[in-house]
Amino acid sequence: MPRIFALANQKGGVGKTTTSVSLAAAFAEHGKRVLLADLDPQAGLTTSLGFAPEQLEHTIYEGFTGVSELKSLIIPTQVPNVAFIPANLDLAGAEADLIGEVAWERTLKDALAPVLNDHDLIILDCPPSLGVLTTNALVAADTVIVPLQCEFLALRALKQIQSIVTKVRRKANLELKVRILRTLYDSRTLHGREVFEEIARVAGDELLATYIKRTVRFADAAAAGKPIVLYASDSEAAQAYRELAEELNI
Ligand SMILES: Nc1ncnc2c1ncn2[C@@H]1O[C@H](COP(=O)(O)OP(=O)(O)O)[C@@H](O)[C@H]1O
Ligand SMILES: [Mg+2]
Repeated sequence: MPRIFALANQKGGVGKTTTSVSLAAAFAEHGKRVLLADLDPQAGLTTSLGFAPEQLEHTIYEGFTGVSELKSLIIPTQVPNVAFIPANLDLAGAEADLIGEVAWERTLKDALAPVLNDHDLIILDCPPSLGVLTTNALVAADTVIVPLQCEFLALRALKQIQSIVTKVRRKANLELKVRILRTLYDSRTLHGREVFEEIARVAGDELLATYIKRTVRFADAAAAGKPIVLYASDSEAAQAYRELAEELNI
């Protein structure tokens, strides 16, 4: 059985998509067969892999509605060993389609079942909300990685996620684990250092020792349509994601 990670935080701009793609590339370097799935109607992951969302005819939305088997929606990427299920704005309709269905929160888990054997790792990149799509990811995952930007209000977002995780554990996924990743860390500011330490205190056992510093290298990599691990292979940022992959140990 593959490990399944969900990258979730209802705040946008905290590094969910960057971490999804960078982590995928870091695991793929070790020969792991990785499946990345874009669960955000804004399709940041799809774009960052070099696809034009609005030109895609078949997307993960069809997997949610049952129109297509998930397997038929998987496409290759430029990154060796990384396969992908894209999204576009169609996915914004999934919420309305699923709510009211029986066991709507298991839709993704059930859809993934037939492809589990083809991958060593599945990474689900969630939208910036805690609605139907993120709940589906939390039910399907074994571990939710919560990126927290080392800035004001980071911990408020964490509280809301923890309360959803508690509900998901109680009703659908008893074994769901939480790991907290500090992102966009700027050690030059006192504020950055204070939040960095505060997250560590609050996160306790859930804290990942690896953290990701703020650097312009990510913007450069995104513009080039490549994960940082390939774009700037020797950079500190690429190295940080390799360390993260090691710490997550699949
Ligand atoms: N460690 C980092 N340092 C600098 N910029 C980053 C870093 N991580 C992400 N970014 C940039 O911040 C923006 C938001 O990141 P993204 O991963 O898309 O967040 P989310 O998916 O949570 O909305 C993107 O432009 C991305 O390139
Ligand atoms: Mg995103």
